[in-house]
Amino acid sequence: MGVQVRARIAVLPGDGVGPEVIAEAVKVLRAVAAARGHVLSFEEAPFGAAALSGGLLPLPAATLDACRSADAVLLGAVGGPEWDGLPPDRRPEAGLLALRRELRLYTNLRPVRAFGGVSSASPLRPETLEGTDFLIVRELTGGLYFGEPRGRTITDGRRAAVDSLVYSEEEIRRVARVAFEAARLRRGRVTSVDKANVLHSSQLWREVVCEVALDYPDVTLDHMLVDSAAMQMVRRPAAFDVLVMENMFGDILSDLGAGLVGSLGLLPSASLGAIGPSLYEPVHGTAPDIAGRGLANPAGAILSAALLLRYALGLPEEAALVETAVERALAGGARTADLAGGGPALSTAGFGDRVIALLG
Ligand code: IPM
Ligand code: MN
Repeated sequence: MGVQVRARIAVLPGDGVGPEVIAEAVKVLRAVAAARGHVLSFEEAPFGAAALSGGLLPLPAATLDACRSADAVLLGAVGGPEWDGLPPDRRPEAGLLALRRELRLYTNLRPVRAFGGVSSASPLRPETLEGTDFLIVRELTGGLYFGEPRGRTITDGRRAAVDSLVYSEEEIRRVARVAFEAARLRRGRVTSVDKANVLHSSQLWREVVCEVALDYPDVTLDHMLVDSAAMQMVRRPAAFDVLVMENMFGDILSDLGAGLVGSLGLLPSASLGAIGPSLYEPVHGTAPDIAGRGLANPAGAILSAALLLRYALGLPEEAALVETAVERALAGGARTADLAGGGPALSTAGFGDRVIALLG
């Protein structure tokens, strides 16, 4: 047995299906820790709509403190239909953006992989889907989500609104480096996605990515316009290795990637900065339509816990154990409702139990 790890994990279940899927991720982490002799402690904190309803801010100061002093943060999802009318800065989602910014998590890794056994849930032909395994590297603390000026104005009774897409060369360089480093450990290809035929920020993006590429002669770089990348992702998803892009481009293309492999419920993500705790959350949202009924797919949350083991705790073997267990569960026919196509389905907890039984 390897070195024993002790770690504190801040758990932010959030809203909608967040608490249900996070319960399964924590269950799996506890099982892995027990099997491998690690000591993990979990501290739950209010976040998102759950915090707002309690009269708190979407990211309460005490929650941020709990995250800062933890070794990693495990997060469910935020948002809720009852807050739909509010301006962006007062919605539950503002808590997530504040957390990413406060923890300086400038890189979001979203691996997209075709899982054996669930290809029938994909809208793609099996031969198109086959071999799909790419990594979206989404810039997470800049771009259109954070640029200034932003907001709404009224001039002479007429409404207007502005959002700004701003990048400094340093912001582009640091996330580009992460993409090239990741490509080195994969198939050695980076596709930089932009809209350089229209946007100034994209022209700078392309320039800086080309400069970074000089330090990685062993990695092949190509550039793709974001509209074309969306089409190529549907036509030839298996051709991609690592993709790096602006914050909102990454938000959109990662949902597209999830659609390709069959369900948003399957995809994990890791948000990393240069220092301090990193954050792990499934790519999916709160799914209010199925919340609280044990219908949600916890695979994305469980696979996010695997990324936590790998990146935050330096436990690659344990991470692989969890990933293999999820793969084997899916390959063996374990299905939550999103993947069952109307057939018999496991509950959220039932899927978690199946994964634990396969931890081997
Ligand atoms: C995501 C989500 C968030 C985002 C929302 C909830 C703010 O869609 O993590 O992809 O847009 O980043
Ligand atoms: Mn999204």
